[in-house]
Amino acid sequence: AINKLSHRFPFEKGDVVITTLMEHHSNDLPWRDKAQVVRIYSDEKSPINPKLLQDALEKSQGRCKLVVVTGASNVTGLINPIYDLAKIAHQYGAQILVDAAQLAPHRKITMGKRGEEQSIDYLALSGHKMYAPFGSGALIGWPEIFEQGEPEYKGGGAVKFVSRDEIVWKEPPEKEEAGSPNVVGVVALAMAAKNLQAFGMDRVADHEAKLAYKLVEGMQGIPGIEFIGPETYNPEVRVGVIAFNVKGLHHAKTAAILSCEFGIAVRNGCFCAQPYLKQLLHFTDEQSEWLKNKIKNDEEVELPGAVRASFGVYNTLEEVDVFIEALEKIARGDYQGTYVPDPERGDYWPKEFKPDYQEFFNF
Ligand SMILES: Cc1ncc(COP(=O)(O)O)c(C=O)c1O
Repeated sequence: AINKLSHRFPFEKGDVVITTLMEHHSNDLPWRDKAQVVRIYSDEKSPINPKLLQDALEKSQGRCKLVVVTGASNVTGLINPIYDLAKIAHQYGAQILVDAAQLAPHRKITMGKRGEEQSIDYLALSGHKMYAPFGSGALIGWPEIFEQGEPEYKGGGAVKFVSRDEIVWKEPPEKEEAGSPNVVGVVALAMAAKNLQAFGMDRVADHEAKLAYKLVEGMQGIPGIEFIGPETYNPEVRVGVIAFNVKGLHHAKTAAILSCEFGIAVRNGCFCAQPYLKQLLHFTDEQSEWLKNKIKNDEEVELPGAVRASFGVYNTLEEVDVFIEALEKIARGDYQGTYVPDPERGDYWPKEFKPDYQEFFNF
């Protein structure tokens, strides 16, 4: 969805896209070859301060037509003040895209009406984050830029008329949806959104806040837990996403112990947000350069990163207890296996245990 907007947005030479250092690669890489990218950033414990956007827009002297920000970070869970940012963007004649992949499953979003100063011009979201299967997502926004010009992908379903020399395109969105559509994915995404709405986004947020308060409080009491990002939970500015490391343990090892000995699934690594992670881990430019060269030369290297605990609507307070207990044990070295790195996959595995994938996935 974000690539689509980046391809079709009418950039001109010298244009600037203002974004943040908190972005998932999905809302960073698509802009790099389209415009000059300017990144704003508050600090590791706070969402973006709108004043920073105002300063950046002032500096860009009218060359910024689009501001692109994440609604909530998939690393720290910090929620950006999207309506305030929208208002400022509009005051400077720019539009705003909100990457809502992480925000939409956790909070109600109001895009607003055309002409409203706080309205969101474009919103991108991802089906699999909203309890729909992988492979569907949405770009919601004003159609004008898609009415002009040619679609990025061309093919069946996008046209009204074709001769040997001429094409008459359909109106957007069909014009932008060439090829056989992912019907099942789209229906599932719509149903997932309806179900979330029926359950109530305020209830989702309340439930998540109870879990996250308990988790963060429990983690604060464990010696050796290093929070990545804020050390506290405040549902006003944070969704239930908590990144951390256990002192002295590689993130992949912590994740492997949680998985193999406690049956708890977490994500570990850089969460497709390497510039943000480097900032949060206080990586220097020299360290970054060293790592880049190691990776480019295919040399063995332990990748930096963190562990991330995050909540879905199905999680319970009892599960938080189990998680805290597991972390307490891991932090004091009370686990069974001898974990060794698997350089090919970047994971750790206990020496004593070899999963037989054929048993589960017989392709
Ligand atoms: C904040 C954020 N933006 C974008 C994405 C990418 O979404 P997708 O997996 O649908 O490309 C993710 C998913 O990990 C995300 O967390």
